[in-house]
Amino acid sequence: MRRLARRVLRALRGDPPAAPDAPIHQVTEANWSAVPRDLWHHYDEPTLPQQPGGFPVPNFALRANSSGGGSLGYWFGIGDAWAHVVARHLPPAPTVLDLGCGCGKLTRFLALVPDVRYVGVDIFLPHVLWCRRAFASIEDRFAFHHFDGYSDVYNPTGAIQTVDYALPAADASIDAVAAHSLFTHLHEPEARHYLAEIARVLKPGGRAVISLHVEPPAGQAYVNDHDRSDVDLDYFLAMAAAAGLAHHETLGVIYGQTGVVLARRQHG
Ligand SMILES: C[S@@+](CC[C@H](N)C(=O)[O-])C[C@H]1O[C@@H](n2cnc3c(N)ncnc32)[C@H](O)[C@@H]1O
Repeated sequence: MRRLARRVLRALRGDPPAAPDAPIHQVTEANWSAVPRDLWHHYDEPTLPQQPGGFPVPNFALRANSSGGGSLGYWFGIGDAWAHVVARHLPPAPTVLDLGCGCGKLTRFLALVPDVRYVGVDIFLPHVLWCRRAFASIEDRFAFHHFDGYSDVYNPTGAIQTVDYALPAADASIDAVAAHSLFTHLHEPEARHYLAEIARVLKPGGRAVISLHVEPPAGQAYVNDHDRSDVDLDYFLAMAAAAGLAHHETLGVIYGQTGVVLARRQHG
């Protein structure tokens, strides 16, 4: 674990990687959260070479703070898979809200579609600042919102409780909400609040594509932990129904998380 921590710190400082002492994909969110907070400002560099005409790729430190750890392969693989899933639920010229957008794993794929409008939301400021720079060329269609939400893992100094936060979208204005690897970090009251907010901002018939961990310990419906939350799938679907979101489809396991698609009820 110490060698792994040194490796993370080297990456944060921007030093070239030393000979591998642990596979890079073993750098997990849990390890990342142990990195001293005053090193997080190194989020800006090093950045991988930009592809001509393409969007930049976030550095190791930012990637390590989203699902899949710092691994480039996981980062692109999850983004690609998730973009395919979300794209299946988009009408022409859609507006998408990406809740817990991280450093743009899904964003860069949706950005390739000319008529998509997109709102990304996250509590981790370095992600939001990086996304604003990375996608500045399409800022007329792609906007990124930060709110100083409290999470003991992602933003322990946050001043706002998630349950007090209103998503930055008008009622019935959004065609699809994507939330990849977000509900896997929420306490139950936060999850209930976000489901109600998602129902508020979705157009009737609009879809929410959400990933979950669905393995709570036997006898428990929801285990609360900002590092990893697990919920019984039927219990989650009942929570969604109470918020006005009907079960549309269960997608199965995608890169270790179970995907579910919810649909905003047409009335009420
Ligand atoms: C595991 S990462 C996933 C990021 C991105 N969706 C992806 O797949 O790469 C979880 C993200 O959710 C954000 N987050 C955690 N709690 C949140 C909350 N209450 N509201 C909005 N974003 C939150 C974190 O800052 C982090 O960027």
